Amino acid sequence: MINPSFRKINLQAYKPGRSITKKNNKIIKLSANESALGISDKAKKVLKSFNSNISKYPDGKFKELINTISKKYNCDLNKVICGSGSDEIIQMLCQLFLNKGDEVIVPQYSFLMYRIYAKIVGAKVIYSKELNFKVSIKEIIKKVSKKTKIVFLANPNNPTGTYISKKELLDLRKKLRQNILLVVDDAYFEYMLNKDYKSGLDLFKNKNNVFILRTFSKIYGLAALRVGWGYGDKKIIKELYRIKPPFNVNKIAQICAKESLTDRKFLQKSVNHNIFWCKRIKKEFEKYNISTNDIGPNFFLLNFSKCKLSAEKVEKKLENYGIILREMKSYGIKNCLRLTIGSKKENIFLLNKMKSIFKHV
Ligand SMILES: Cc1ncc(COP(=O)(O)O)c(C=O)c1O
Repeated sequence: MINPSFRKINLQAYKPGRSITKKNNKIIKLSANESALGISDKAKKVLKSFNSNISKYPDGKFKELINTISKKYNCDLNKVICGSGSDEIIQMLCQLFLNKGDEVIVPQYSFLMYRIYAKIVGAKVIYSKELNFKVSIKEIIKKVSKKTKIVFLANPNNPTGTYISKKELLDLRKKLRQNILLVVDDAYFEYMLNKDYKSGLDLFKNKNNVFILRTFSKIYGLAALRVGWGYGDKKIIKELYRIKPPFNVNKIAQICAKESLTDRKFLQKSVNHNIFWCKRIKKEFEKYNISTNDIGPNFFLLNFSKCKLSAEKVEKKLENYGIILREMKSYGIKNCLRLTIGSKKENIFLLNKMKSIFKHV
């Protein structure tokens, strides 16, 4: 019998941050950059009392959510589209812009879905070198060719936790050919208090050749509901609406996202929590000669190159205590782990266990 044939795509499937250990004991998951404080009370209220009719399809144009987005960020609602996570918008951008043989530039250590979706549609992924785990504008520009269609960039970057300044980002857009789409992924921008940082949306609201990504999966804690949004030129948005699945964001996600946006108290609390624990964790880890990126997003890339124990050893020891960090081999980064800032209880548990691990080292 001859089986129906399908395309063979040369790529490594995405491996999410693990949420179970071998022992499957009660775990503390610090491997996926999720919210430390759960979700906003306003979103909780929606979930508790949700009695809307789910036998009817959700709004495929996300009217109420987009209205709230445009008010909050003072941006044009005709330039917004929502996705089942920002992930889906990355996928749709690749479908819309890329043909076989086109080139996409991504920094060497970057969010894996950029390369995965680009490869699926037959584009060639070109990696630009990073310097000390920081995105380099110069290296991106070096990689531009006639075939370059998109440059993807998360700022701050995942998994390195570093960021490029407002000046560098503006410089990048200036130096890139006009007809290359620059995608700036603002997934972690809410956490950024750094003075020289500006989000993609703040910088490029009116630029036709920049596309911005935002998500409700990080600071808003709605990762399981799958909702994110994109902002770009009206013509791009119009085409994205034409190719998207008709009801790609479910009703509960749309309402929770909308409510979360108006909960300033929750947002402030999350930012304060993050900065407090980043400072404390950074200081504690330095005692073990584990270095990190500067404080910024809700995670650290832990570098063990000067530490007496290897990243792998510490990862295993923490796992025995039920604490899961993100291994970095799948990103091609040696002797490092990525740590998400957890709740107070989780962070204290982690720091205590680190003390035990390094007691006799
Ligand atoms: C930089 C970056 N962009 C996008 C995403 C995907 O987010 P979403 O859950 O909205 O698909 C992630 C998730 O880890 C991320 O780190």
